[in-house]
Amino acid sequence: MRIAVIPGDGTGPEVVAQGLRVLEAVRDFEVETVEFDLSGDRYLRDGAVLPDEDLASLKTFDSIYLGAVGHPEVPPGVIERGLLLKLRFELDQYVNLRPVVRYPGVETLVPSHTPDSVNFVVIRENSEGLYAGAGGFHRKGTEREVAVQESVNTRHGVERIVRYAFELARERRKHLTLVHKTNVLTFAGDLYQRVVNDLSVDEYTDVETAYVHVDACCIYFLDSPQRFDVIVTDNMFGDIITDLGAMIQGGMGVAAGGNINPDPGGVSMFEPIGGTAPTEVGKGTINPIAAIGAMQMLLERAGHSEAAARIDKGIRHAVLQMRSMSAGKMGRSTSEVGDLVIEGAT
Ligand code: IPM
Ligand code: MN
Repeated sequence: MRIAVIPGDGTGPEVVAQGLRVLEAVRDFEVETVEFDLSGDRYLRDGAVLPDEDLASLKTFDSIYLGAVGHPEVPPGVIERGLLLKLRFELDQYVNLRPVVRYPGVETLVPSHTPDSVNFVVIRENSEGLYAGAGGFHRKGTEREVAVQESVNTRHGVERIVRYAFELARERRKHLTLVHKTNVLTFAGDLYQRVVNDLSVDEYTDVETAYVHVDACCIYFLDSPQRFDVIVTDNMFGDIITDLGAMIQGGMGVAAGGNINPDPGGVSMFEPIGGTAPTEVGKGTINPIAAIGAMQMLLERAGHSEAAARIDKGIRHAVLQMRSMSAGKMGRSTSEVGDLVIEGAT
């Protein structure tokens, strides 16, 4: 198995190092890892964001393991669009799979939640919508400036993500919720709702479906998360609700995600969903559980279910001995959390 590693910026390299240590501890198969120097730092050094030869090379790996990218001195969008989104789009990783799981023993800001009540998966469309980059400026910088940012939703794109979500729901509790804003976004929302309805009637009669507006979804995450099993939503809504999802898991230090190309030969990329935490760099304060969880998802996807299950065991063991999931409050350092995961996994 060949894994491309992009440690990235800020605390990305620190958490990735723990994920790789855990991989070493649990694997019972050969693995080759190759590191790629792609980050805001690199951009500031030599102006490169994602050189064509790196992109071509990344396409030859089984999976990609990413820390975090973004840099306070790089203008917004350069690295996000030029590296992260470019990889998602170029590798056609059209599924962004973000489990929202609360491990026993983890404290969150919502006292009424229990580990049983927070256990669902968000399937975020990852290849179009507002992220497509459609639109532009007109008369930029003048008083009559126009900025248009359009949401692109294709029948093909919506159908493949909804189908993926139905399939997942079928393996779980057979319940799929569409999250959108159909009362205002009467074109894009209508397309999503029709695709859900059509597939529900024609192919997935065994899966119960529901619809929730995105704003109400935020209430339900706090109020009654047990209503969710699998959620399917568009790119922008999925970005926003999964940050709230991370908070009901215990924080950004816990939440992992996968950018998945489910097609045969597709290259998928796994990452902690949090950012680069520039102020925490080098302090050993950041929580690597999310990055280790991303490694777990990577192995699961690659068919190494036993190694993935070991990591799951390790994570559940580690969180029980940590004071908090937040940076600086764990009662352990970044590498000590890695130690705990390895101890519980092996
Ligand atoms: C995420 C991030 C990215 C996104 C940014 C860094 C472009 O917030 O993975 O959720 O918006 O998708
Ligand atoms: Mn986000």
